[in-house]
Amino acid sequence: MTTKNLGVVWKAEPHTIAKTEVLRAYLVAYFQILGISKRRQTLLYVDGFAGPDQYTNFSHGSPTAALKAAQEAIANSQRRWIAGEIHCAFIESDPKRFENMDKKIHPFRGVNGLKIHTHNADFVTGLAALRKDIPAPFCKSHPLFVFIDPFGATGAPFSAVREILASGCSEVLINVDADDIARIFRAKDQANYEELLTAIYSDRSWVGELNDKEQFAMSCRKALNLYTTKLKSVAGVRYVFSFEMQKQVGALNYFLVFASKHPLGLVKMKEAMKRIDQDGSYRFADANVSQPLLFRFDDPEQYARLMHRHFEGRRVSYEPVENEINDYALNQTPFLNAKAMLAALERQKLISVTSRTSRRKGTFKEGVVKEIEFIRSR
Ligand SMILES: C[S@@+](CC[C@H](N)C(=O)[O-])C[C@H]1O[C@@H](n2cnc3c(N)ncnc32)[C@H](O)[C@@H]1O
Repeated sequence: MTTKNLGVVWKAEPHTIAKTEVLRAYLVAYFQILGISKRRQTLLYVDGFAGPDQYTNFSHGSPTAALKAAQEAIANSQRRWIAGEIHCAFIESDPKRFENMDKKIHPFRGVNGLKIHTHNADFVTGLAALRKDIPAPFCKSHPLFVFIDPFGATGAPFSAVREILASGCSEVLINVDADDIARIFRAKDQANYEELLTAIYSDRSWVGELNDKEQFAMSCRKALNLYTTKLKSVAGVRYVFSFEMQKQVGALNYFLVFASKHPLGLVKMKEAMKRIDQDGSYRFADANVSQPLLFRFDDPEQYARLMHRHFEGRRVSYEPVENEINDYALNQTPFLNAKAMLAALERQKLISVTSRTSRRKGTFKEGVVKEIEFIRSR
């Protein structure tokens, strides 16, 4: 699909609808958890590339998905809600799409507990305006979640992403179009590649990383890896995970990349991604829609071996806070925690467990298990 002649609204492919569902499911959990825990704090959600909030074949886009999630979270929490208002901000640069979106979200204006902000501007300008109008989520630890969903790889420079993540309680969900990054690299001067790639990564780290002698698919992987490495290099960002979106099986399209400072954020995002996950591999392919799949890719035994290799020879603390073993499971495997993999390793006598009180073999309760030794295999 070329994005040049799309018009105000266009046809949503299955992966577009799936993306909206991931966002909606995550935001219900996000608003609800923060609403009952962040006393009097402002919750700010920003959709940086909001679109027209409508498709020719689907009733709504990401703006309505977010507003429905906010409304649902407020209704579910009722008296337990202790946070301040939810502020939802929508930035869209195209005037006609902006106008369409503004009309579509009108029914949510006036919903109790919800404040709506709209900016007919580019992402960077809109974000700067929001920072002025609602400063707390950008400089104090008030929650901030930014959804960044451009067409292609440009429009959201990494410098803006880094600024968002500098705030104490911020998260991002980014559509990283690795395919487009690799294409820009290959087009060289025809695509003004030096300037574009330097803005995408906010430095020249791509030089030497991308290579036009390798296969295109490899360049795409490297483009993604470089992006996730940059996210992990931001202070406090311990959780980064990507979900692959494909039009056809085997053909890469883009990645939904999530970055957070809190493990619960990634647990909830993986749960949301699971809703559209077709085979346990955190991959979605339009071509698989309504086709039963024969294989699954989330077998704990297989990932247990990789985890063992990662920690081999070490005694690792299993304390609840900043648990390195669970962080590995969250960031590097399909699982929400390490328990199933640890159970597999214990069966194979590849770990030795030190616990505070007696424990049943194969159980790994935080607070009970103190430390795990990953025994060297011969
Ligand atoms: C992929 S669409 C967004 C789809 C929408 N997030 C959804 O899920 O329904 C990208 C949108 O970003 C807008 N756009 C393009 N460049 C932009 C920029 N620099 N800042 C803000 N919006 C931009 C386009 O007009 C388009 O409507």
